[in-house]
Amino acid sequence: MRQSGSSSTHRRRPARRRLLRPSRLHAERRVHATGVLSADGALSGARVRLRLLVAADLDEFVAYRRDVAVAAFQSWTPEFDLADARSLLAAQPAHGILPTEGEWAQLAIDAVQADGEMALVGDVGLCALAGQPDSYEICVTIAAAHQGRGYAREALEVLTDWLVDRAGAHRIIAQLDARNDGMRGLVSALGWRFEGAAVEGDWFKGEWTTLERYAVLSREWRARSRS
Ligand SMILES: CC(C)(COP(=O)(O)OP(=O)(O)OC[C@H]1O[C@@H](n2cnc3c(N)ncnc32)[C@H](O)[C@@H]1OP(=O)(O)O)[C@@H](O)C(=O)NCCC(=O)NCCS
Repeated sequence: MRQSGSSSTHRRRPARRRLLRPSRLHAERRVHATGVLSADGALSGARVRLRLLVAADLDEFVAYRRDVAVAAFQSWTPEFDLADARSLLAAQPAHGILPTEGEWAQLAIDAVQADGEMALVGDVGLCALAGQPDSYEICVTIAAAHQGRGYAREALEVLTDWLVDRAGAHRIIAQLDARNDGMRGLVSALGWRFEGAAVEGDWFKGEWTTLERYAVLSREWRARSRS
């Protein structure tokens, strides 16, 4: 999918700083009150760990975002640089990993490597959609050297579990360029539902392109987890 962005690197919706609706407020209180996130603010799966991207990640983060293939269907270009990355950090949530309404959080994906150490392998953009309570959009990127190892799938499973079970999410969506077979393979593998396509509805990098949308409702995710 394409992470829409407000900064020079993301075609985000303009930030609309409104008061959180009660449902999200409750969700955030639950998260903080129950301490579901680990003490260092991370979500962990069998091999991956999700946490807020921080300044120490930026060299690696910029390096994989400058990869032509990684950038092809994303809102940034291979010219993505440290200044672009720093502007993302400036918009990170002040508390926890949930962004406020209309904003994106950038979550680092770490994974255990052959030497037993955790290393940054990619990231997930997480947006709290404006105008709809408890609704999120995600965007996943894995560095080319780490693709095809199931990290993206595990990261999205961990994040979706947490959003649904702990953060009170109702619906999560992903939007992708119709040419992006990797992202379609990922959301299809997760069992997310195809919601439709805006055929040649998106002027993107100098041409009309088709955007597909996939989604999962909390009840659908829970039913999948039980089956
Ligand atoms: C999309 C992306 C994150 C997938 O990463 P990945 O490391 O290949 O994903 P995983 O290894 O976790 O694979 C997850 C599933 O997607 C499937 N998949 C991955 N690439 C695929 C492809 N090109 N065609 C079909 N299916 C594919 C895998 O088969 C796997 O399904 P399975 O678990 O049933 O075997 C990666 O290709 C990427 O970073 N692309 C560039 C950035 C981008 O465009 N991101 C999407 C926009 S948000």
